[in-house]
Amino acid sequence: MSQSSIIPVRPEIAEKAWLDEAGYHKLYQQSVADPEGFWAEQGKRIHWFKPYSQVKDVSFAPEDVHIRWFHDGTTNASYNCTDRHLATKKDDTAIIWEGDDPSEHKHISYGELHEEVCRLANAMKANGVKKGDRVTIYLPMIPEAAYAMLACARIGAIHSVVFGGFSPDALAGRIQDCESAFVITADEGVRGGRKIPLKANTDKALASCPNVQKVLVVRRTGGRIEWSEGRDLWYHEECAKVSDDCPAEEMNAEDPLFILYTSGSTGKPKGVLHTTGGYLVYAAMTHQYVFDYHDGEIYWCTADVGWVTGHSYIVYGPLANGATTLMFEGVPNYPDASRFWQVCDKHKVSIFYTAPTAIRALMREGEAPVKRTKRDSLRILGTVGEPINPEAWLWYHRVVGDERCPIVDTWWQTETGGILISPLPGAIDTKPGSATLPFFGVKPVIVDADGKHLEGACEGNLCIADSWPGQMRTVFGDHERFVQTYFSAYPGRYFSGDGCRRDEDGYYWITGRVDDVINVSGHRMGTAEVESALVAHAKVAEAAVVGYPHDIKGQGIYAYVTLVAGEEPSEELRKELVQWVRKEIGPIASPDLIQWAPGLPKTRSGKIMRRILRKIAENDYGNLGDTSTLADPGVVDDLVGNRMNRS
Ligand code: WTA
Repeated sequence: MSQSSIIPVRPEIAEKAWLDEAGYHKLYQQSVADPEGFWAEQGKRIHWFKPYSQVKDVSFAPEDVHIRWFHDGTTNASYNCTDRHLATKKDDTAIIWEGDDPSEHKHISYGELHEEVCRLANAMKANGVKKGDRVTIYLPMIPEAAYAMLACARIGAIHSVVFGGFSPDALAGRIQDCESAFVITADEGVRGGRKIPLKANTDKALASCPNVQKVLVVRRTGGRIEWSEGRDLWYHEECAKVSDDCPAEEMNAEDPLFILYTSGSTGKPKGVLHTTGGYLVYAAMTHQYVFDYHDGEIYWCTADVGWVTGHSYIVYGPLANGATTLMFEGVPNYPDASRFWQVCDKHKVSIFYTAPTAIRALMREGEAPVKRTKRDSLRILGTVGEPINPEAWLWYHRVVGDERCPIVDTWWQTETGGILISPLPGAIDTKPGSATLPFFGVKPVIVDADGKHLEGACEGNLCIADSWPGQMRTVFGDHERFVQTYFSAYPGRYFSGDGCRRDEDGYYWITGRVDDVINVSGHRMGTAEVESALVAHAKVAEAAVVGYPHDIKGQGIYAYVTLVAGEEPSEELRKELVQWVRKEIGPIASPDLIQWAPGLPKTRSGKIMRRILRKIAENDYGNLGDTSTLADPGVVDDLVGNRMNRS
């Protein structure tokens, strides 16, 4: 790696930062040499009702995986995000909400946030929600989404936020899996000027969720909706009936805070379970250091609260730190491609955190939409969700940040709760495309396929050697699956599912998933989910789905489809199948390309050889590898001959 591709820390950033380079290395050494001592100290950054005396109780041994942090302490995440700030920040802005329509915005102070959360918590209690109950939240990006999460946390209910772009079927699956009896939704969402029929989707989903007793509906648009008497309740009416006094429930550090469904390489999405104390400590600490957050700054993460990034870095991390967090209802290109930067100017945003796919899409529009805005409030830029290609990194740095703003490329996962590998703006020189160095307490190890621990500059599979407080604790209702998925490939270590290279400076470069998970526009998807949606169609006999490189989305979805005997391929059927997958899962899962495959390459034992399908989709035929173990090598020639052109 040549010196020219290192972007050094800027002195004016280092001067203001919480930590400089020496400070980072010193604290990192402490954190890995004495994790107990380190986290005993860091745990104090949140308020505990009863302080912990125990810090860490962890085993990664496959026969006994358990992870507990601060486990004799009691606290409450909602208390930490609201009550705790009332003495000093009652009138300071907690949330800036920017509507889809640029003429709509509002500021919510910590005092108002507290009141809203307490009222909703009381309204939920009045409607039968109790500690430990699961509550499904299916909302657009409106402040009520944050109120709903914090209201659950306040009374000890476990929230499961489902992204508003998911279909009724996907919503139903998630409600059934965690057995929620209570759902919070809105009449409609609004994105890019278009309405999203959230209540109608919920109605459809609930046809297969007899367990659900109540649906609380936020009035966002006033659009026409169906109403089920006895089940449906208006959010504003229920909140008006109750008091705004609702003491926060005393929760054990290890009581569940939320479930968030995420895709894996096999089967249905898993309910990733995060607990209260360790998660909040880790979210708050990473938010402070990775974004170098200082009091009074305006911080904006463009994610949706339906993803973990929204949980940790729109809601819990920033609010635990008493920050001002901006919540955006819209999309990057509405009304036009300047929107992100207009919002930065309008609200004087200093820290801006988005995904590579958004950067690439905006890059395509050229520099003018960026350059017509000032962006002089920006101090730090961040990226997350997928590997960022150096071209996009450099464009972000030069065009958006005017070469003034450091970029933090943050690697982490739903499972990790918070950022594990990232530069710190005042401490770590960056290299475009590298997530650089581990956060405090994080011990990355790179292993080869046999589990051998690789040293120095190397490439392999990324594992983490020891626990950190934000780590997921289990798969909801299926601890065996948790152990199997993360701790069986390389016993004694957490396996991330990502490939990774470490360079001669010890910098980490994430190369993407090494399992059957694809990352489409930063949205994580199991190829198996898309396949099972396809084969659920009456005309489909078999399907295999792989990712292929896509200029904007990072990866696109390439589906090989075998029709049932007697069905003829047609353009119409292709469109029908795309619509079908949208309906089954949601628009984010729409196949970009469908290739009709008379047969799929299989081993003699019947296993589909995805490696070959990936190569064909990538246009890499010269390199198909050994096809001699195929039951019918002839199918490969047919697939190569008829492959789809990538646009
Ligand atoms: C990928 C999102 C490269 C990775 C927080 C990971 C990244 C998956 C980065 C998790 C990054 C996330 N560089 N790849 N900075 N951040 N990923 O669970 O493959 O939605 O395993 O969590 O996204 O996606 P998830």
